[in-house]
Amino acid sequence: MRVVETVAEARAELAAARRAGWDVGLVPTMGSLHAGHRSLIERSVAECELSVTTIFVNPLQFGAGEDLDAYPRDLEADLAMAREAGVDLVLVPSVEEMFPRPAQTVVRLDRLAAELEGSARPTHFDGVATVVAKLFNIAGPCRAYFGEKDYQQLVIVEVMAADLSFPIEVVRCPTVREADGLAMSSRNRYLDAAEREAAPVLFAALRAGVDLIEAGERSPGPVEAAMAEVVAAEPRAALDYAVVRRAADLAPVSPLRGELRLLGAMRLGKPRLIDNLGVEVPVA
Ligand code: PAJ
Repeated sequence: MRVVETVAEARAELAAARRAGWDVGLVPTMGSLHAGHRSLIERSVAECELSVTTIFVNPLQFGAGEDLDAYPRDLEADLAMAREAGVDLVLVPSVEEMFPRPAQTVVRLDRLAAELEGSARPTHFDGVATVVAKLFNIAGPCRAYFGEKDYQQLVIVEVMAADLSFPIEVVRCPTVREADGLAMSSRNRYLDAAEREAAPVLFAALRAGVDLIEAGERSPGPVEAAMAEVVAAEPRAALDYAVVRRAADLAPVSPLRGELRLLGAMRLGKPRLIDNLGVEVPVA
């Protein structure tokens, strides 16, 4: 496994791989790698001849008062996990390498970036889309692996790649969970013992929503109310949103039909957790 710190070195390595006719796989991360990241890396390694992981805590996607400085960083452990998972190349650029001067160009999506996570974090998805566009341009034509854990981010990346004609195939990877259902996240370490115990309530709420739809409910209101009720029963949790949307583009849908996605966010003390689940209502 080769570790490089400059865009030029990464480009040279990837260009050589493509000249040899190899498929390139890209797994962008902010480090603090856990089994969720690992599943993306392993999928890339299984499907591509050369896999590159990027580790970059992107300042653009953190709002004022968010946890940029406190974001967990452990490069040694990350490189050990990347090596174990079989990655060929790791790009670990500094902020100065990625942004030698403040960027004037921003990739901004419309409705998709403004709602749900975007209403709690107004500049977050501009920062994500801008840095992912840069990483796509650094990597060149490739398969890029993203987790369903961050479902709105995944849809935004897919839409951006299509809107801007990036020569990138975005690959969706399922959410990796703890045994009690909690979706793995680098931020779970911020939970104290009592919060950790309460945390699976979000997954339980989404499950309750899925169950209701599978039992025949076709109206979003009762499904969203049922999810909110499950979270409300946990006194430590404060619900931010629990909604059911069309899976492809997160548009509201009523009556419920086709591929759907249930998405929720809640605060548990200071930490904020997000999760989502898919369900399909077959279109007759
Ligand atoms: P990060 O939070 O490090 O996540 C990197 C990738 O791992 C994302 O595609 C995310 O969806 C995926 N991931 C995280 N937890 C997961 C889980 N439990 N199961 C499956 N996949 C999981 O997301 C980002 O970084 C950044 O926004 C980034 C895309 C790198 C841009 O800066």
